[in-house]
Amino acid sequence: MCGISAIASHKQVASKLLNTLLNLEYRGYDSCGMSIYDGVQIQHKKNIGNVNEVNHKVDFLSMKGSTGIAHTRWATHGGVTMENSHPHPSNDNNFAIVHNGIFSNYQDLKEELIQKGYLFKSTTDTEVFSNLLQDEYRKSQNIEDAFCESLKKIEGSYAIAMITNYNPGVIYAVKKDSPLVIGVNDGTNYISSDINAFISETKDTILLGDFEYVIMTKDSYEVKKLSNRNKILKEVIKVKWDRETARRGGFSHYMLKEIFDQPQTIRNALQIQTDQLEEIARKFINKEQSFCVGVGTTYYIAMIGTYLFSKFANMYVPAISSDEYPNLIPVKKDHHVLFLSQSGETYDTRMAIRAAKNCGASTSAIVNVVGSSISQTVDHCIYQQSGPEICVVSTKAALSQIIILWQVALRVGVLRNKLTQKEADAFHDHLHEFAEIIEKVLNEESGFIRGLAMETSNINNWLFMGKGIYYPIALESALKMKEVTYLHAEGLPSGFLKHGTLAMVDENLYSLFFLPSREKTHLFESTLMAIEEVKTRKGKVVSFCLEDDTKTKELLDYYFVIPKIHSELTPLIELVMAQLFSYYSALHLGLNIDKPRNLAKSVTVG
Ligand code: AGP
Ligand code: GLU
Repeated sequence: MCGISAIASHKQVASKLLNTLLNLEYRGYDSCGMSIYDGVQIQHKKNIGNVNEVNHKVDFLSMKGSTGIAHTRWATHGGVTMENSHPHPSNDNNFAIVHNGIFSNYQDLKEELIQKGYLFKSTTDTEVFSNLLQDEYRKSQNIEDAFCESLKKIEGSYAIAMITNYNPGVIYAVKKDSPLVIGVNDGTNYISSDINAFISETKDTILLGDFEYVIMTKDSYEVKKLSNRNKILKEVIKVKWDRETARRGGFSHYMLKEIFDQPQTIRNALQIQTDQLEEIARKFINKEQSFCVGVGTTYYIAMIGTYLFSKFANMYVPAISSDEYPNLIPVKKDHHVLFLSQSGETYDTRMAIRAAKNCGASTSAIVNVVGSSISQTVDHCIYQQSGPEICVVSTKAALSQIIILWQVALRVGVLRNKLTQKEADAFHDHLHEFAEIIEKVLNEESGFIRGLAMETSNINNWLFMGKGIYYPIALESALKMKEVTYLHAEGLPSGFLKHGTLAMVDENLYSLFFLPSREKTHLFESTLMAIEEVKTRKGKVVSFCLEDDTKTKELLDYYFVIPKIHSELTPLIELVMAQLFSYYSALHLGLNIDKPRNLAKSVTVG
């Protein structure tokens, strides 16, 4: 995720572009840059740091011209360096682009372009598109042809804005799976990743759809379909949002926005290069024992990993909480430790890495923030490409980590001959379908979940229970509930209930059971048994079930309806629905959801 801005105006654009960049900074802030056509050719200024720091170094306002593009980056491919910052010019500097997203086939395209003699200054996926434009223009001598033909070659997700020396005053932009909106004003038109960028200038906006592109000047815009280049008539919408609402993409809180970002972050996680996954998978094979380590949410995700490695690779990979790691130090030289961290800065996890390295263990990590301390210290790091997570509580970054662990576990399963490649591919396909299912569930079930949250928000004590992989799902969901509502929610294995906690159950105690799909007969029946244990003691039960499962519904006081999906994916659907349940409970209680009391996004102290 990063922020794109493009402006065509009758006036100088540098200061307008700078303002839009500042408004977009929450989307990415490791580096930024600007390209403006100065009347002769495109000029560029970019560097690493946040917008104010970079402006201080390069002085954007000294740039002259009335058509330009700008970008604030959240690196996915290539480190945080000046060369990797956007915009990226083509080799002949006749084209410059900014990009948000991931070109998943960039390596093949880059090789082809290198064969043709093109040079690459950066290690990003983005730069291939600048050179593709140059290459296609060489053939057709037509900008629109070059733009559309280059796009035919690209796979993945993108929002792109481009300017060219061949057609000064014109901006070309397109989107697929990454956001892009147009803002129209008298004599100045805007293109941006979100309305927030230009909302102080205009509220007249046009929403661009996937595979639609726009050709825009200071006083005109034409939206066309990429498939046939036919013109599309677009409605101009007057947004009523204030700046802060626009910043959250219209959502009332970042937590809700980030929950709704999840279909996209799943897709990003599924686009991670196979060789990256393979490198970690091989460590699981080559080392005598592997561990999965994280803290807070990432510890629970590590626990989910334990179940995934057990299921797909028949391998026991214990999860350890980073803060307890130095008290255990079970690691030896021929061990491998996989660390999980959204921020890449968590003190407890950094100390655990230090301890593992001191023992000579091999280390790897799954991290969201490129260039963070943890990503720099481990032997091998996979960036999860979830984009910035602003809300203190982790939702989208956590789910992405599960998707990545899932893929690593499948790979390890194949390498250990516990799964055939065909079986692994089938699971991979299910994960792709999962992104769509989540999208549907979020859109269709939110209202109902909100209603239930309102009804139960006066409950002070919750037990969250599950069995098998549903146990760490219950733990993580209970943590979410605690973080945002400040209510007591205890996560425990449902089989544990009768060994003590059952004493607490009476008509005032509410339990949320993470019920597996019926196909998982043993898990389903034993969870149901625990539900019965609670019901017999007059405890209230909330759980998940299929629309047509009347038998289960009869047993429950309240239920969330889950869709019919592959039984392995049910826990993930329930996790997402529980995120929404916590969110709406906190909303009803009127709490500071994005910044819960006493918590910080990145816990860099011990
Ligand atoms: C998540 O909702 C929490 N805020 C917290 O438990 C967090 O997961 C933990 O501090 C680890 O952070 P990290 O992923 O940035 O290392
Ligand atoms: N893939 C591009 C890069 O790494 C764009 C990043 C983004 O969209 O966040 O530079």
